[in-house]
Amino acid sequence: MYLRNHWYVAAQAGEVGAAPLARMFLGEPVVLFRRPDGTPVALEDRCCHRRVPLSLGKVVGSHIQCVYHGLEFAGDGRCVAIPGQADIPAAARVRAYPVVETHSWVWIWMGDPALADPADICDFHFFTDPAYGSRSTRFHVKANWQLIVDNLLDLTHLTYVHARTIGNPATTLKAEMGVERRDDGVTVTRWVIDAPAPPTYQLFGQFAGNVDRWQIIHHTAPAFVRLNIGASTTGTGARDGTRVDGINMWNLNAITPETETSSHYFWGQAHEFSPHDGGVTDRLFAEIHRTFVEDIEVLERQQQMFDHDPTHVMLDIRADAGSNAARRLLDQLHEAEQSGRRHAAE
Ligand code: FES
Ligand SMILES: [Fe+2]
Repeated sequence: MYLRNHWYVAAQAGEVGAAPLARMFLGEPVVLFRRPDGTPVALEDRCCHRRVPLSLGKVVGSHIQCVYHGLEFAGDGRCVAIPGQADIPAAARVRAYPVVETHSWVWIWMGDPALADPADICDFHFFTDPAYGSRSTRFHVKANWQLIVDNLLDLTHLTYVHARTIGNPATTLKAEMGVERRDDGVTVTRWVIDAPAPPTYQLFGQFAGNVDRWQIIHHTAPAFVRLNIGASTTGTGARDGTRVDGINMWNLNAITPETETSSHYFWGQAHEFSPHDGGVTDRLFAEIHRTFVEDIEVLERQQQMFDHDPTHVMLDIRADAGSNAARRLLDQLHEAEQSGRRHAAE
């Protein structure tokens, strides 16, 4: 299942340059490159002549030239040159996708171009806001995008998958959880009050005793998950809104479906506790990187079992409340999109 009328992250800004970058999104082959003025372009990666990937060719001026017979295409998808032929038929074109570059990511619109409004791009200002130290990257994951969203909405797995970094028994056993459905996503709120800090939190917070820990998970459809996470010394009022004597961070995730069974997983970590100390940012990023590699091992094995028998019935437990709410919303949005409506509730 794909939701097409949404912005997705296509690439980190530094990945798109004068050399063509081939990447598949929502099952469609796309080529990305930059014009000499720096603006990014996204075109269908399939020449309209004989279907050779345009990404095998080269960028010539602000056009891309097919490697096979030299047809050239402009950023709007029109063929602008056919070597040895003066007239260019109107049908000589490839699909062009709207693209926008913001907050260090290049975004692509995979749906009806008439509906593409850059104001709808999910907010990831953390990556360029000097109030935060941040670092981001991209993983390729051989798993369906919704499995990754499920993973981020059910944090009981931290206790078992991430015991070396951000999980400990209290993360599951002492958490109080609330789920709120919004029009465009789901918010899951988890509080672990008066419990030991897990290893990564202890490393950066150096807490003398127990902590109050928050995990406020903001999911926005289709697959943006921004987690405000942190901990402060227990009893200092974190739950009432006072964030002192502790650490506050954002774990930021944007998942772009590649195919039904693979995903581009763009993510980063931002923190407020020493925003201008690059060493802290790098050490924190390394901890979360190691943590996410653990997730990927589980997710890819999980996908293999879905492939093996997609009809196998699954059991729900209480911890699934957030991910199940998101799945219901995404199903409704998909249904709405298929029937030409913009919103789930219409
Ligand atoms: S296949 Fe591209 S020019 Fe012929
Ligand atoms: Fe995880």
